[in-house]
Amino acid sequence: MNDLQKEIEKLMRECGNIIRDARRDPSMVSVKEGHANFVTTYDRTIQEKLREGLLKLRPDALFVGEEEDIHPDINDGISFVVDPIDGTTNFIRDYKQSCISVAMLEKGAPKLGLVYNPYLDELFTAERGKGAFLNGEAIHVSGFPVEQGIVLFGTSPYYRELNRRSFDLAYLYFQHALDIRRSGSSALDLCSIAAGRAEVFFELRLSPWDYAAGSLIVTEAGGIVTTAEGDPLSFDRPCSILASNGVA
Ligand code: IPD
Ligand code: CA
Ligand code: CA
Repeated sequence: MNDLQKEIEKLMRECGNIIRDARRDPSMVSVKEGHANFVTTYDRTIQEKLREGLLKLRPDALFVGEEEDIHPDINDGISFVVDPIDGTTNFIRDYKQSCISVAMLEKGAPKLGLVYNPYLDELFTAERGKGAFLNGEAIHVSGFPVEQGIVLFGTSPYYRELNRRSFDLAYLYFQHALDIRRSGSSALDLCSIAAGRAEVFFELRLSPWDYAAGSLIVTEAGGIVTTAEGDPLSFDRPCSILASNGVA
């Protein structure tokens, strides 16, 4: 592991403490555009801490965080793509299923991906070409076919027009798989595929900060990630996601 990764891990663990120690009160929540789309004062605090810390480590990098109004073009040089809290609705309700997601991109493609679940103290990491790890131990996708598989899906809750298709597809998988799950954190869903805890994950629209880190962790764990149509992911705009162990 290189020094940069070590420093990022340290920063993410500090942010994890902020999530774990949060004191909930209604004034921490504001509403964003779309159905049931929220942001809290904690999302903003953690994003600021990550921005400051990451840009201190790589002053040449661009920074893209979910809770920003302006998203610079990430197709040149180094950029960080960050979700300060993935699973904000879970966080608001103290559902204990949220994480911090940090990806470092080189010329628009993920080079380093880190996802930290502070509730379980699970840190998933991957560097391009060097495998995927959970708390330093190598992880790999499972070998189960869909018939013996758990299928995870996201509901694209902020986009009402995708609801019917999302549930139709979930029903289709449900008929063929062991069962389905909906966690409320797409980054953790991707890590579950990487760790061999589930076999398929799909969501019909996500933003790059939801999947930039997790998608690298899946591919480095031996899995496959494309859009629902089978195309390569885009990291400069939203797209659909279909991740699997490559068997299911
Ligand atoms: C959301 C979560 C959720 C997914 C949504 C995402 P947020 O991220 O990943 O699982 O279904 O599409 O937007 O808003 O909690 O950071
Ligand atoms: Ca998110
Ligand atoms: Ca978020």
